[in-house]
Amino acid sequence: MSTAELTELRLPEFKSLRDAVIPIDSLTVIAGRNGSGKSNVIDGLAVLSALAEGGDLRDSLDGGHDGPVVRGGSEGCAPLGTNAFQLGCTVSHAGSQYSLDLEIQVSPRLAIISEHLWSSRGSAGRVDYLRSDPPDPHSSDLQVRWHNGKRGVNPAIAMRSTQLLTSQAATRVPATSAAGRRVHEVAEIVLSAISGIFILDPDPHQMREYVPERDAALRRNADNLSASLKRLASERAVQETLLEMTRSLSEAQVSELTWATSSLGDVMVVVKEMMGGQVRPVPARLMSDGTLRFLAITAALLDKQPVSLSKTIQRGRLLVVEEIESGLHPSQASVLLERIKSVAAERNIRTVATTHSPPLLDALTGADHESVVVASRDKTTGWSRVDRLTDFPDYFEVVGRTSLGDSAVHDRLRPGKVNADAARAALAEIFKS
Ligand SMILES: Nc1ncnc2c1ncn2[C@@H]1O[C@H](COP(=O)(O)OP(=O)(O)O)[C@@H](O)[C@H]1O
Ligand SMILES: [Mg+2]
Repeated sequence: MSTAELTELRLPEFKSLRDAVIPIDSLTVIAGRNGSGKSNVIDGLAVLSALAEGGDLRDSLDGGHDGPVVRGGSEGCAPLGTNAFQLGCTVSHAGSQYSLDLEIQVSPRLAIISEHLWSSRGSAGRVDYLRSDPPDPHSSDLQVRWHNGKRGVNPAIAMRSTQLLTSQAATRVPATSAAGRRVHEVAEIVLSAISGIFILDPDPHQMREYVPERDAALRRNADNLSASLKRLASERAVQETLLEMTRSLSEAQVSELTWATSSLGDVMVVVKEMMGGQVRPVPARLMSDGTLRFLAITAALLDKQPVSLSKTIQRGRLLVVEEIESGLHPSQASVLLERIKSVAAERNIRTVATTHSPPLLDALTGADHESVVVASRDKTTGWSRVDRLTDFPDYFEVVGRTSLGDSAVHDRLRPGKVNADAARAALAEIFKS
């Protein structure tokens, strides 16, 4: 069984971003100043993951009891002054790459105006598994062509323009031929990868209450952290890792994780710490913001095993953490990063983290630098751009002479004329061992 993994996010026109290509590696770090567009990249991932559910666009992007999935809802996704946004991604599965590219109009009506599911395969050339025709202004449906493997123009079927077309493939494309079943399979591969995106935006203020024990599937704001940790800890090995990670971060001597139970049977996580020669219970209510955020990140990392959707496709997990250093001492931030790297590798989870912490950047190894992208605003156009750190013309000078974190502090890293090939070649030279 092969894992379907997101390997690239594209934001050709999305919020402040223009023509941004973000490679997704095992640990992708998005660095940049305030307002440079880091969270807008995360919003792009949030939109993809919401669309994967296959519901109505309005419900997926603007609905739900937690409000819109991104700041400003669907309308906020269109770059200011426009009424549509574009985004896309590439997914890898069993050595093949599949791409999904979308354009969504936000007004006067929220609808897909173009969707393309395709792969480029060596000698066989490109296969357009699904491709929509230009919209008909008088219809709320789109005509979508599916690859039937025959000569000539692909046949068209009608699909709703208010729901991800790829998610409609399973019910609309006839499964009576091998080509039709292949379209179903490719759609499922891409949906598996994007539904494996989990965005964590822990809010410590919401984590200090008792929560029903059964409410254990960790939510984006981690308000049900206590219940989620309790479920995870019911597995002995996971409990060990949890405890060990807590110890590695905590200044205090932590001996145990337990749970307090309210009169209603709700739970709250308690860390047992040595204080004044005695073991004392510290409930979530009294924990620091940093500790709670750290526990939330740990819970997300240790959470459920990849789900297999079919015999051949396993869902790849992508954990996204905003401002990873938030609430932590610089030295703890680098410990956290180390732990994330090792646990993520062990459990085959990819992570994307945004940061503006210089010490965190300094804690990255040369090999990690390959997966650092820097968001910045173009001085002339004002749009956000995203560049690979190693493509910066002054990258070698920076890592050679000063620290990466220092350079970020003094804003010495600015994208210039990028000579990617030369930079890569030189990099390979330096890091080959
Ligand atoms: N729809 C939009 N069109 C153009 N620019 C936008 C849009 N939405 C937000 N922005 C810009 O993006 C900025 C916020 O970027 P963000 O990614 O949140 O920054 P950070 O790097 O600090 O996370 C806003 O200040 C605004 O300039
Ligand atoms: Mg931000």
